[in-house]
Amino acid sequence: MSKNILILPGDGIGPEIVTEAVKVLATLRDNHGLDIEMDEALVGGAAYDAAGHPLPEATLELAREADAILLGAVGGTKWESLDISVRPEKGLLGLRSELELFANLRPAILYPQLAGASTLKPEVVSGLDIMIVRELTGGIYFGQPRGIRELDNGIKQGFNTLVYAEPEIERIARVAGDIARKRNSRVCSVDKANVLECTELWREVTTAVFEKDYSDVALSHMYVDNAAMQLVKAPKQFDVMVTTNMFGDILSDCAAMLTGSIGMLPSASLDANSKGMYEPIHGSAPDIAGQGLANPLATILSVAMMLRYSLDEPKMAELIENAVNKVLDDGLRTPDIMSEGMKQVGTEAMGDAVVAAL
Ligand code: IPM
Ligand code: MG
Repeated sequence: MSKNILILPGDGIGPEIVTEAVKVLATLRDNHGLDIEMDEALVGGAAYDAAGHPLPEATLELAREADAILLGAVGGTKWESLDISVRPEKGLLGLRSELELFANLRPAILYPQLAGASTLKPEVVSGLDIMIVRELTGGIYFGQPRGIRELDNGIKQGFNTLVYAEPEIERIARVAGDIARKRNSRVCSVDKANVLECTELWREVTTAVFEKDYSDVALSHMYVDNAAMQLVKAPKQFDVMVTTNMFGDILSDCAAMLTGSIGMLPSASLDANSKGMYEPIHGSAPDIAGQGLANPLATILSVAMMLRYSLDEPKMAELIENAVNKVLDDGLRTPDIMSEGMKQVGTEAMGDAVVAAL
């Protein structure tokens, strides 16, 4: 039976980069026997403009039926003054929570060809290969109560709630343990247990899970402030990092920059049955949208993750990764990863080069 893939281009550079990733999928379908069907729908600001909501019921329905979802990016200055409940970001957050995509995998891998593009010294980052496992459907992003209220004295007060229940911590800890077993068997759990009770529990539960079922994996703990520092100081000490929704949001941007450009990093958001949504970790970059400048490689590499984690096609995932390596070897660079002596290309030319390499 063919697998159903829902394409959600979204906003800003989303449609441009997704177009290139779809070319890659179509090439695998037409020339390599990948049995897929693709459907497309609106999400984010584009959906708000067309249907009055960033996650229309029709889109959610298609997402529920799909085997995997490919998303570009959402958001933009155009929608910043909207009420927070209908902002483009709510489309993305709604998909994550409605589909229970609680495990967010964000690999930070430095391509040797791009060592010079990092702001850190090559010896600090060369060979870097970290997997950040971010909890994605809980924590302060979704905790209740939340809002902005007016106190008796007329002063406004904003409030959010950081909350995790044992099972939520346990299941993400297990994801990190399973992934570590396929890598170097080391997990660093990041929390703020010295200040926040919620993450004191995080540390307790994580420790118990590893003691009981992952004694072959080395678990360590780190406070988030130190983890941010260590990521910049000596990033290669990490194998797998597991952390809360918000800490993972912040640390994954930091880790991305170690690799030279946020334009290179894919991500997977998985439910308990390996159904997943795949997206580049970067945003919609409205400042360069529509100019053909965006780097499509993070989205193309997200397709590789989709093949590996949801479609059980690891060989095809490798085909994509090899093709990306080939175009980098050939010296092709979008502006975000451009350096001296290389050939600067736009979004479409980069996508075409990957397709040609396939
Ligand atoms: C990310 C993004 C999102 C997040 C935004 C767009 C809601 O920053 O995927 O990292 O905060 O999770
Ligand atoms: Mg983020």
